[in-house]
Amino acid sequence: MAEVAAVSDDLTVMEAEFPAYDIWREELPGRTMYVARTRRRDLNPYSVATQDLGELCDALEPARGVRAEGPAALTSARPNIARMYEYWLTGTDPRPPDRAAADDVLARFPEVAEVARANRAFLSRAVRYVAERGITQFIDAGSGLPTSPNVHEVACSVTPAARVVYADRDPAVVAHARAMLAAENKVRVVAGDIRTPSSVLNDPALDDLIDRGKPVCVLLMSVLHFLPAAEADAAVARFRRWMKPGSYLIISAGTSSGTDPELINTLRNAYHGTAPVTGRTSAEIGAWFEGFDLVPPGLVNVWAWRPGNSWRPATSRARFLGGVGRKTSESRRSPT
Ligand SMILES: C[S@@+](CC[C@H](N)C(=O)[O-])C[C@H]1O[C@@H](n2cnc3c(N)ncnc32)[C@H](O)[C@@H]1O
Repeated sequence: MAEVAAVSDDLTVMEAEFPAYDIWREELPGRTMYVARTRRRDLNPYSVATQDLGELCDALEPARGVRAEGPAALTSARPNIARMYEYWLTGTDPRPPDRAAADDVLARFPEVAEVARANRAFLSRAVRYVAERGITQFIDAGSGLPTSPNVHEVACSVTPAARVVYADRDPAVVAHARAMLAAENKVRVVAGDIRTPSSVLNDPALDDLIDRGKPVCVLLMSVLHFLPAAEADAAVARFRRWMKPGSYLIISAGTSSGTDPELINTLRNAYHGTAPVTGRTSAEIGAWFEGFDLVPPGLVNVWAWRPGNSWRPATSRARFLGGVGRKTSESRRSPT
């Protein structure tokens, strides 16, 4: 017991010395491994696994003192929203805390992974729809880890003029996205929190790509349910006010209307207090489009929005709503 505590102390010390790395211990049959994985894809080594703590320390030596971008609070040993979601989407092997939390949810509600994939498929269809209507500027707020096809890939497949600003509050997401998208000259990645929309909208990187006087498409996909209700309402209202007539708003969110309340509780537990999980009613989600015309079929389950041949669940205990709205004129702007 004392030995385990001493190793935990060592790992804590190492995390302080190598803040750009997540470092943990993994118990495998017959052996204990120590694993480090960088939070920045621009750092070498990317990942190290060894049975010897001293060896791990030596391997990381070139990165001693190199900082993770921004505060580490959201990328600590607690489960991470973006990585759990990536695991549900792609099965990519995440860190143990993310995997454990994500698997706990899947064990009780396996449909969650399908809903995550249906959400991404809705994103593709919605972005394509908007790009086909002549929109070339996109702001994807709460963008998550880059996953293909991403917004810029879909939009550019319709119009090569498309430009995309990705924004996320998680420094690990921002660092990964910047590293992976560095070669894309029509893409910028911003560290911003949608609870303070100005942290996204006033970032100078926006001016590199976005003409503020012209219509844009703002995406708030699978992010608003991580905010307390009043903060989500205020954030969406601020984005709506900022958008010029002719702009499009794409939103998806989990809803309490028709979702098994036990799933919402399970998700709350899984995130371990890193974010609230707020199930809003479909009427409350519909109100986020105030002053916008909802594109048919309106606010529906993400898998039912212009689905084509895409996946539809036979039954699901999870409802996940998506909609696309167009701002028609200044006179119809929300007073909020
Ligand atoms: C479930 S992922 C969704 C990713 C992507 N939008 C999608 O729908 O595929 C949620 C993302 O929202 C981010 N997020 C949560 N709260 C946020 C906030 N207040 N401001 C900005 N990003 C936030 C998380 O860090 C995470 O990357």
